[in-house]
Amino acid sequence: MTTLTRPTTVALIGAGGKMGMRVSNNLKKSDFTVFYSEASPAGQERVRGLGLDITPTDEAIVDADVVILAVPDVVLGAVSEDVVPKLKDGAIVLTLDPAAAYAGLLFARDGIEYVCAHPCHPSVFLERRTDEEYADTFGGIAAPQEVVAAIESGDETARVLAESVISTIYAPVIQVHWVTVKQLAVLEPTLVETIACMIGELLQEALDETVNTVGVPYEAARAMLWGHVGIALTNALRGSNPFSDACHIAMDYGRESIIKDDWKKIFDDSELDYVIARMLKIDAVKR
Ligand SMILES: NC(=O)c1ccc[n+]([C@@H]2O[C@H](COP(=O)([O-])OP(=O)(O)OC[C@H]3O[C@@H](n4cnc5c(N)ncnc54)[C@H](O)[C@@H]3O)[C@@H](O)[C@H]2O)c1
Repeated sequence: MTTLTRPTTVALIGAGGKMGMRVSNNLKKSDFTVFYSEASPAGQERVRGLGLDITPTDEAIVDADVVILAVPDVVLGAVSEDVVPKLKDGAIVLTLDPAAAYAGLLFARDGIEYVCAHPCHPSVFLERRTDEEYADTFGGIAAPQEVVAAIESGDETARVLAESVISTIYAPVIQVHWVTVKQLAVLEPTLVETIACMIGELLQEALDETVNTVGVPYEAARAMLWGHVGIALTNALRGSNPFSDACHIAMDYGRESIIKDDWKKIFDDSELDYVIARMLKIDAVKR
């Protein structure tokens, strides 16, 4: 467990957005001195609804040890260009997704620490014990989750301070795993968005097809699918039970019918560059 020896000032930019509100909720319970900045009137209203004051960005960041940029990835370049030159030496810029850092979009300045931390969300295998833990599907409220983070310089003092802020904004946190920016980019988007989220949506489409095209009653199809998603995940990811021989034949048929032979190309560097540029709506990532 990391401990801090001096008071810490945190500025949260984009406090009224989806992540900003989650982060605000946790920061307001912390010992940090926190300033909340938000550009949109609707977002400002949401932040005030938490009982928090809005501070203009330039004031919020002036003495900040850690500046959290919770703005959309497509504006991170412009926002960092405005904010980073105004920060005090040694400040940490904390982003919540690796795409902009990987693409070289963040304004670069010597003496500034760049950290990115992405929540893992509570594991599908988490042993939830309370109603609050069951209700917290996203994490950051009651269900414990892990976090994966990257620090560009590798500075140990900055890492300790960053970890304390990360463990607060995504609390309750089991562990923060430190990797490189590129590794974090392979985790998100490639592993979890390109693959896991896509498969999640494919499952919903398959359920719709079963109900709407074939005519199986919704309740029966939903019950069969949700139960089998559970057993498929625990068998495949944890080896809980063997799949039956007949199931393996159906799985082989599914793979032949649905999966392209060269699907693992999504792990090539050029494909990562391509998907991140597409997500950030830019022509190409910078190297
Ligand atoms: N939404 C998620 O589930 C999720 C999960 C993990 C990480 N993230 C990351 O969190 C970051 C924020 O995403 P989000 O989904 O919360 O975005 P969002 O669009 O919901 O919120 C962004 C907020 O930033 C505000 N904003 C924009 N420009 C600003 C500026 N110059 N100054 C002050 N405020 C400004 C907007 O008004 C908005 O309220 C992104 O990096 C995203 O990749 C999001």
